[in-house]
Amino acid sequence: MRLSEKNALVTGSAGGIGRAVAKCLAAEGARVFLSDIDGEGCLAVMEEILGQGGAAEAKIVDVTREEDIGELFSWFGSSATRPDIVVNIAGGDMEPVADVEAIDPEKMSMNLDLNLKSCILCCREAVRLMRPARYGRIVNMSSLVYRGGPMQFTYSAAKGGIFSFTRSLAMAVGKDNITVNALAPALVDVPVFERMLGAQRWSALKSGTAARYPLQRIASPQDVAKAALFLASDDAAFITGQILEISGGARL
Ligand SMILES: NC(=O)c1ccc[n+]([C@@H]2O[C@H](COP(=O)([O-])OP(=O)(O)OC[C@H]3O[C@@H](n4cnc5c(N)ncnc54)[C@H](O)[C@@H]3O)[C@@H](O)[C@H]2O)c1
Repeated sequence: MRLSEKNALVTGSAGGIGRAVAKCLAAEGARVFLSDIDGEGCLAVMEEILGQGGAAEAKIVDVTREEDIGELFSWFGSSATRPDIVVNIAGGDMEPVADVEAIDPEKMSMNLDLNLKSCILCCREAVRLMRPARYGRIVNMSSLVYRGGPMQFTYSAAKGGIFSFTRSLAMAVGKDNITVNALAPALVDVPVFERMLGAQRWSALKSGTAARYPLQRIASPQDVAKAALFLASDDAAFITGQILEISGGARL
């Protein structure tokens, strides 16, 4: 097992990608510390992991609240034997708008707080825990729209910010034996889209998008989880400051 005796904190672990990542890390032997604003969803993932013989604990957290982030990391620091891995996944587009003139400052702030500010503050707390142990693997969730994306003005700005912050942090903490990388998935097949769009529109969006990708399909949550596992493991010990596109060749 690639993560035996490792402890891993995963934010957004009740979501489509977070659940897959948490289960994948647990299957490789990590003790997983789950967190999400959706307590019920988080507990369900914990039960799934425990049912499969893995080790998991869960905590309800709103990552847009600095005090919640403080509590999350003091829980992780005091419960884990060593704070080895942090995967920052909580996020989502709170403001998809058709035109730049429709940008709403309040929703824009929500988007930046949920995606970018939370990631920066979680990384700050992760480094505080990891530095004394002289070991750490931080994996941040960006998106392929870090390159820019239609109708995703403030979300893409947040995901682009995660990319630059990841690189800046990697430069700063390499000497502490902490690696920091980011994932940039293209469209991923997660339940939230069907809930938002309805089955018919989601199915049309999936097939239309898949046809434009060289690999002719969109990503599964497991595709993203395997990439997260790689960056969280010692197979990636000499990789830092990178953004790994999980895109089926989209935007080559
Ligand atoms: N699905 C995609 O196509 C795709 C592509 C690229 C990047 N991403 C990114 O991947 C991540 C996971 O997305 P997903 O597709 O699994 O969506 P999802 O909605 O299923 O998961 C997001 C999770 O974050 C949690 N969350 C939301 N607000 C929170 C808060 N304030 N505090 C704590 N938790 C909160 C939600 O409850 C949910 O469980 C996001 O950062 C998203 O931006 C998704």
